[in-house]
Amino acid sequence: MKPFILANLSLLVLCFLATYLQITPWPLTLLLPSFFSLLPFFLNLWLIPGGFAWKNHHYNSPNLPGPMGWPLLGTLPQMGSLAHRKLAAMAASFGATRLMAFSLGATRVIISSHPDTAKEILSGPSFSDRPIKESARLLMFERAIGFAPSGNYWRHLRKLAANYMFSPRRISSLEGLRQRVTDEMVAGVLKEMKETGAVEVRGILQKGSLSNIIESVFGTGSGLEGEELGLMVKEGYELIAKFNWADYFPLGFLDFYGVKRRCHKLAVKVNGLVGQIIKERKKDGEFSGSDDFLSVLLSLPKEDQLSDTDMVAVLWEMIFRGTDTVAILLEWILARVVLHQDIQAKAQQEIDTCVGRNRHVQDSDIPNLPYLQAIVKEVLRMHPPGPLLSWARLAIHDVHVGKFLIPAGTTAMVNMWAITHDPSIWKDPWAFKPERFIEEELSHLSVMGSDLRLAPFGSGRRVCPGKALGLATSSLVARSASPPVQMASS
Ligand code: HEM
Repeated sequence: MKPFILANLSLLVLCFLATYLQITPWPLTLLLPSFFSLLPFFLNLWLIPGGFAWKNHHYNSPNLPGPMGWPLLGTLPQMGSLAHRKLAAMAASFGATRLMAFSLGATRVIISSHPDTAKEILSGPSFSDRPIKESARLLMFERAIGFAPSGNYWRHLRKLAANYMFSPRRISSLEGLRQRVTDEMVAGVLKEMKETGAVEVRGILQKGSLSNIIESVFGTGSGLEGEELGLMVKEGYELIAKFNWADYFPLGFLDFYGVKRRCHKLAVKVNGLVGQIIKERKKDGEFSGSDDFLSVLLSLPKEDQLSDTDMVAVLWEMIFRGTDTVAILLEWILARVVLHQDIQAKAQQEIDTCVGRNRHVQDSDIPNLPYLQAIVKEVLRMHPPGPLLSWARLAIHDVHVGKFLIPAGTTAMVNMWAITHDPSIWKDPWAFKPERFIEEELSHLSVMGSDLRLAPFGSGRRVCPGKALGLATSSLVARSASPPVQMASS
C-alpha cells in the first residue's frame, strides 16, 4: 500500500499548497482529472498481491499473498544485503511462509519459507531450470552445470560430475591435498598471530579454499595461474552480484553500469587462461594417472568427451562455485568455535579421545567424531552459505505448489535461512547448540537434501553436486580445532 499512500499524500500536499499559498491552481485543474482518470489503470497494474509482475496472473491464484511493492520496481529496493532476512519478515507479516508472491521489476517470483513447499519446488520435476542473469550468461555459465537448461547436455554434465569428478573415490583421493592446504592455513594463522597479534582469517580461508579447488581442478603446480584465477573469481563474483537493470526489465540493449563490457573482458581472459591450460595438458598427453578434474575430463571415453569451449565453462564454474561457498562455511565454523569456548573445548576433547594429539584428523575419523559433525550441521543451520539457496529455479510449465497455480516462467526461491530460523520447526532457533544434533530426534538428520528442514545444498535433481567435497573440505575445521589454532584464537 505504501506507494499508493505516497501518491495520494503528494496530491494532498499539492492541493494544500495551491489553496493556502495562493498559487494559481490552473496546473492542478489539468493534473487532477488526468490523475484520477489514470488512477484506476495504475491501481489495477500494481495494487495486486505480489505486485506489478503478477498483473496478468493473479487471477490464477487469487489468494496467493505477497507485497504489492513499488510501481515498476516491485520488491527490488528490498533486495540488497540481508535480503533473506527482509523476505523472511515479509513472509511472516503476510502469513505467507508456505508461499509468497512478489515482483522483481517485471520478473514474477515466488518464495517458500516452509519445508513442505520447499520440497515441492526443489524436488519435483517442474522447477528443473534456472533463471539466468545476463552476467552469468556472458561469463559462460550457460554451458556449465549450474545454468545449463535441464536437457540432454545438462544431464550429461551431471553424469560426468557424479561418476568421475565427485565420486567417493575421487574425493578421497584428494584428501592429501586437503591436509596440505589445512596445514598451510594453520601456518598462516600462526604466522599472522606472531607478527601482528591478530589474525584476519577471511583472507587466509579464501586463499586456502581457492588453492584447494584450483589444485582439485588442474592438479599441482598451478603457481601464478592460481593467483590470476583468484583475481578472476573475485571479479566474477562482483559482476554476478552487481545490480543490472537488464535482469529485471527488457533493457538488454543498454549497459548501464558497464556490466556487459566487464563480463566480455573477463570471459576473454578466462577463455585465454583456462583454454591455454587445457591445450598444454593435451600437448603433454599425460592425464590417465592424475586425479584432477581436467585430467578426468581429458581421459573420458570418446563418446563422453566435451569440446574445449565446454570444458572451459565447466572447469571455470567449479573454481567459481567451489571457492566462496567453502570459505564462507569455514569462516562461520571458526567464528562460532572461537565465540563458544565451551563448545570448542568439547570438540577438542572428542578429537583427543578418538584421534589423539600425535596425528592429523583424517577423513576416515569423521564418522567417529559426532560432536564435530554436529558443530558443522549447526553452523550450516544458523549460517547457510547460500541463505536463499542462491541459485533460484524456474517453472518450466504451469504447476501447482500447495493449492496455488504457478504459471510457467515464474522464478522460484527457497528461503533456507527462514526455514532454519523458524521456531515452529526448530526449538530455540537463535541459540548455537550443536547438542541438538546429538539428541535422539535429530541425530540422524542428513544435510544432503533429503530433509528440507535443513538442506543447505539444495535438493532434488539440481542439488549441489559438490556437496560431499564441500563437506569433506569443511572437516578441515577438525584440524583447526586442534592446539595451534586454539592458542592463536584465544
Ligand atoms: C559448503 C559448500 C557448498 C554449499 C553450501 C553449496 C550450495 C549449493 C546450493 C544451495 C546449490 C543449489 C541447489 C539447488 O538448486 O537445489 C548448489 C548448486 C551447485 N553447486 Fe554447490 N555448494 C557448495 C559447494 C560446492 C562445490 C565445492 C562445488 C564444486 C566444486 C559446487 C558446485 C555446484 C554446482 C555445479 C551447482 C549447480 C548444480 C545444478 O544446477 O545442476 N558446490 N550448491
